[in-house]
Amino acid sequence: MKKTGIIVSFEGIDGCGKSTQAELFCRYLSQEGLKPVLLNEPGGTYTGEKIRKILLDSKNSICPVTELFLYIASRSQLIEELIRPYIEQSRVVVLDRYIDSTTAYQGYGRGLSIKFIKHLHKFTAGDLIPDITFLIDASAEHLSAVLKNKKKDRIEKESLKFQKKVREGYLQIAQQEKKRIRVIERQTVALTHKTIIKEWGKFFYGHR
Ligand code: TYD
Repeated sequence: MKKTGIIVSFEGIDGCGKSTQAELFCRYLSQEGLKPVLLNEPGGTYTGEKIRKILLDSKNSICPVTELFLYIASRSQLIEELIRPYIEQSRVVVLDRYIDSTTAYQGYGRGLSIKFIKHLHKFTAGDLIPDITFLIDASAEHLSAVLKNKKKDRIEKESLKFQKKVREGYLQIAQQEKKRIRVIERQTVALTHKTIIKEWGKFFYGHR
């Protein structure tokens, strides 16, 4: 069936505040009467949550290829169980992380083949790619200070060097896909939200 809904994704390195922004954005859409669906990755389904536990447990030693396939596995389940059905019902699906996370973390961060990762996206998501993506950008140094006192999961425990590579990766993806990805400089929660709503307005009213 042809895609009819809208996919909006939120991306950014650890600590950038995209989950807060995704929630505020959904609240805004609800006020506008759009009935959004908010989903987050990895996880979001019964099987996906089990995969999430494996991925984020700091006690697990996971090699890059295994890590890649676990993220892809969790996402495939989310796509088939929730994203595709909601899109077919013409809903606005808001994703707290999606395909760009894998390109940025496993591709640019871990150094796995970006070409292969893009093939995997095509294979698993097909045309279910985001219509618009908000990349919340801030320096890795700044965000590592934000996360300093937090109990960290396996990925958040990665070095500053890794987070820097992921950020650079995100910025390169944004450079390659200027039409879809809006780079939003991280400011206060309220100001970042305001910028996102402004960009959304431009996209949505142009889209209808
Ligand atoms: P989560 O607790 O959801 O973190 P956040 O609130 O920062 O999104 O954990 C998700 C972690 O998984 C995060 O560190 C990024 C990482 N990740 C990847 O490495 N590849 C992926 O494809 C996805 C979806 C997430």
